[in-house]
Amino acid sequence: MWPHANARYEKAVLPLAEFELRSLLRAAGLPGDVLVVSAAGRDLLTFECDPLTEDQAALLRHHSSLLMCCALDDCRRMMPLFGRGEAALGDDLGGILKYRGKTNEAFTRFLIDLAFLFGDHRSAEPFVLFDPMCGRGTTMFEALNLGFSAIGADIRSSDLDEGARFLKKYLEEGRFKHQIRKASRTIPGGHVPLTHFTMETARGALTADFLAGDAAAAAAAMGKSFCHATVCDLPYGVQHGPGKGESLEKLTERVLKALFSAIKPGGCVVLSFNTFTLKTNSVYGMMEKAGFEPLTGDGFDTLRHRVEQAIVRDVAVGKRAQNR
Ligand SMILES: C[S@@+](CC[C@H](N)C(=O)[O-])C[C@H]1O[C@@H](n2cnc3c(N)ncnc32)[C@H](O)[C@@H]1O
Repeated sequence: MWPHANARYEKAVLPLAEFELRSLLRAAGLPGDVLVVSAAGRDLLTFECDPLTEDQAALLRHHSSLLMCCALDDCRRMMPLFGRGEAALGDDLGGILKYRGKTNEAFTRFLIDLAFLFGDHRSAEPFVLFDPMCGRGTTMFEALNLGFSAIGADIRSSDLDEGARFLKKYLEEGRFKHQIRKASRTIPGGHVPLTHFTMETARGALTADFLAGDAAAAAAAMGKSFCHATVCDLPYGVQHGPGKGESLEKLTERVLKALFSAIKPGGCVVLSFNTFTLKTNSVYGMMEKAGFEPLTGDGFDTLRHRVEQAIVRDVAVGKRAQNR
């Protein structure tokens, strides 16, 4: 598995990597049995299968927490097969900016993998991912590296601007051909300013849009069914207040309603949240009310993990059915 800077956190999120691999194997048409074994002091995730096809290997390389995939021979010797897929821009993109309230980039990648694996749009070119509360853009940077186009919004325009400034500098320093345009989208009763990037990457031409404003307003500004999936790390109620006197519950309910129009049928919404401020069952209830089908059981109940004393995080996935 891709190592985390914090070994204790790595232990806490082991069940997440296990769940992700099991989900990925099933999506690849393989048996989904995963066993954790210890070797040389590291936890390894193991599974049995016939030799992987190119498509199956590509899924593993790009959409799991993999550092390296090895084949175990009859004497249990490990033969390296492949490592993580090439990043469209650079492996360091999501990790360079450090700030209070940032979502860990490896965890963000896990949320994106779930949104991709459980949705019906895996062959979309490019896949378009939206984060309606993107802070300084961690989700957008991880999405771009996967070859996805990214759209992000945040109510704190200073954070958003910093994310856009950082991406500009990164593209300039890495000599990626790119263009940046400032624009705005009109919504009833106002407008949402945006910074639009187009860029040539190792995985083709991609776009990134940074929208300054409320999550639901930004979703409305982009029109209907504009993204294949949404990933959002909700405010934790520690550093980030819900703002405008609105409770976190009301905010989540309002944003989920807007997301239902934003996501194409067959796409997923993946939310992470602090269970001290939002209960998992209540998030599932709000997803249902907005029209999504919450994905539960079958390992979805193993995703709760401790981040720090005041944060025990959980993840909820909802799907917009094809016929809704
Ligand atoms: C947990 S943070 C997400 C951090 C982000 N993933 C990152 O790594 O930078 C939650 C974010 O929600 C934003 N937020 C709070 N209320 C919002 C609203 N109504 N609309 C849009 N963003 C909002 C906060 O400004 C904050 O950046």
